Parts: sequence; structure tokens; C-alpha cells
Amino acid sequence: MPRSPEPMPLRVAVVGTGRVATALAHGIAGLRGQPCAAEDLDVELIGVAGRDEAAAHDLAAACRTSALPLAVATAGADLVVLAVSDDAIPAVAARLAGAGAPVRAGGAAVHVSGATGRDALTPLAAVGWATGCWHPLQAFATRRSRIDPGSLWTVTADPALTRTVTALTARLGGQAHPLADDHRAVYHAAATLAVTSAVAGIAQAQALLSRCGLGDAPTVPALARLVAGSLAGVAEVGPAQGLTGPLVRGDLGTVRRHAAALAEQPPARDLYAASGRAVIPLLAERGLAPEVTAALAGALDGPPGT
Ligand SMILES: NC(=O)c1ccc[n+]([C@@H]2O[C@H](COP(=O)([O-])OP(=O)(O)OC[C@H]3O[C@@H](n4cnc5c(N)ncnc54)[C@H](OP(=O)(O)O)[C@@H]3O)[C@@H](O)[C@H]2O)c1
Repeated sequence: MPRSPEPMPLRVAVVGTGRVATALAHGIAGLRGQPCAAEDLDVELIGVAGRDEAAAHDLAAACRTSALPLAVATAGADLVVLAVSDDAIPAVAARLAGAGAPVRAGGAAVHVSGATGRDALTPLAAVGWATGCWHPLQAFATRRSRIDPGSLWTVTADPALTRTVTALTARLGGQAHPLADDHRAVYHAAATLAVTSAVAGIAQAQALLSRCGLGDAPTVPALARLVAGSLAGVAEVGPAQGLTGPLVRGDLGTVRRHAAALAEQPPARDLYAASGRAVIPLLAERGLAPEVTAALAGALDGPPGT
């Protein structure tokens, strides 16, 4: 009896040569030769395209794939991943869909922007491509950043493309969850809030430590380690149970001393008070009495008149 033919791999082209494109190209190329169970999606990186052709050649060589001219990135791909700056997505989609660019029937394209909707890919949808958003909830700080297995990804797409992208995410070690298009802005604001508030806290703390005479000490890596340790606990047991510090201990005297010490340092004082107020609702979950939390909340604003 003849054997049924092997299923064709999903042929993926990555557009862009920046931080996320580099991580994706390496991640997908890294699947080559990896054992793939029958129920897993087989994936092949067919090439990398970018407006900077030299950068595309370098990335393609590093990933042992082809550098594709931008206008034909869609030609042989089942899935084109646009990993370009948010504002460039519509223009790149128009270029890919435009006259002269061969567009494969049944193809699909996704962008990896968190805040941008599917409508940024309208030019490709208009020529019959399935379109969607596929966003890694991960920070890619440099072109050396790589996909973190275990990352959460969100997908905004029709059911068939959602299934494909979810299977691709699983091959990359991540977990994909559907996200409605009209939630994307709040979703991305949440991700930005989490990262920006941590970085803002470290920047303000570094300035305060410099004023304490620690300007020559490696305070930024030390603070980043301090935060990472705290966040490891939060990842394990959640924000309320993972919170450490004087607020959760109910140490009113310490909070008063902090607020007084920061009274003349407006940016640090304001951030200390705002972040403290934001965690006050968590204190009830740790069993602090309402009158204690009320006193702590009042102390965050510092001595009267500051
Ligand atoms: N970085 C993160 O932490 C992160 C996390 C999740 C999602 N994302 C999303 O990933 C996408 C890429 O971000 P990134 O951080 O990788 O940015 P990036 O490192 O700045 O790279 C941007 C890429 O877009 C290309 N590009 C910009 N304008 C273009 C245009 N008009 N035509 C063609 N290519 C153009 C750039 O080409 P040149 O090199 O020629 O300028 C570069 O390859 C964005 O949608 C972003 O929201 C980023």
C-alpha cells in the first residue's frame, strides 16, 4: 500500500532585520533538524527580507537561509511575518501586495506589533491573504536577544490562521492566546506599563544611590538583580503574595522615614508614592487591617506640607 505523502512544512519568510526579526529568524531557523512529532507543525524558514539588503544578507547567512528581495518575500511563503517598525507596517504590506510582487494564493501574513491592529495589513487582505497579529510578550533589547521559550504570545486572526500561528508558537516553546482586535491597545499599554514602571523605578533609585555616594558602585546591575529576585517571587506566587517591603509588613514608621527622606526629591518622591498607592489594594490580601492600610496610604504622601 502506498504511504501517504509527508505533510509539507509551513514555509515562513521573515521581513525585517531588526531585533525581533533577528530573534524570529534565529528561532525558526533553529527548528531545522529538530525532532518534530507527527502532531507538531513542521516549519521551514525560506528566507529573510529587509530594506537594508546587506543586513538581510548577514541575517540570512547567520540563519543558513536565503536573503529575499523585499518585493518577492511573499512568493514562496505560506506565512510572511512582518517584523518592522509599527509605523512602517502598512507601507511594507502595500509593497508586498503591490503590482509586480507575486502574491501566493492561500498565503497568510502577520505582524508582530502589540498595539497595531489587523487593519495595518489591509493591502494584503485586499489581495486575498489571511492576515493577523502575532505578538510576543517579551522584550527584545538588542539584536542578540533570542526568543524566550515559555513566552506568552497573543494572536488576533481568523480561526485557521490562529491555529497555524498557535502551532508555530508551540514549536518555538511559547504559548499563544487569542486576543480581540479591540483589546490590543489596552493589552499593549499593560505590557508597556509593566516594563516602563520597572525601568523608571531603577532609574530613580540609581539617581538616589548616586546622591548617597554610591555613584561609582555598579548600582544598576545590583538594582536590576534586586528587582529580578522580587519578580521571580511574583511570577511564582502572584503580585499580592510576592510583594516584599515595608508596606506589606505594615511598617508605618519606615514608610514615614522614606517619605520624609524623599520629600525634596520630587520625581523619586512622586514615583514612590504612586507605586505605593498602586499596591495598597493588594495589602488586604496579605491580611493587613483596613486601618493599617489607610495609615500606610496616608504616609506615602509624606509629612504635611511637602
Ligand atoms: N523590541 C521589542 O521588545 C518588541 C517586542 C515585541 C514586539 N515588537 C514589535 O516588533 C516590531 C519590530 O520591532 P523591533 O524592536 O525589532 O524594531 P527595530 O529593531 O527597530 O527594527 C525595525 C525594523 O523595521 C525596518 N523598517 C523600518 N521602517 C521600514 C520601512 N519603511 N520599510 C521597510 N523596513 C522598515 C527596519 O529596517 P532598517 O534596519 O533598514 O531601519 C528594521 O529592520 C515592531 O512592530 C514592534 O512593535 C518589539
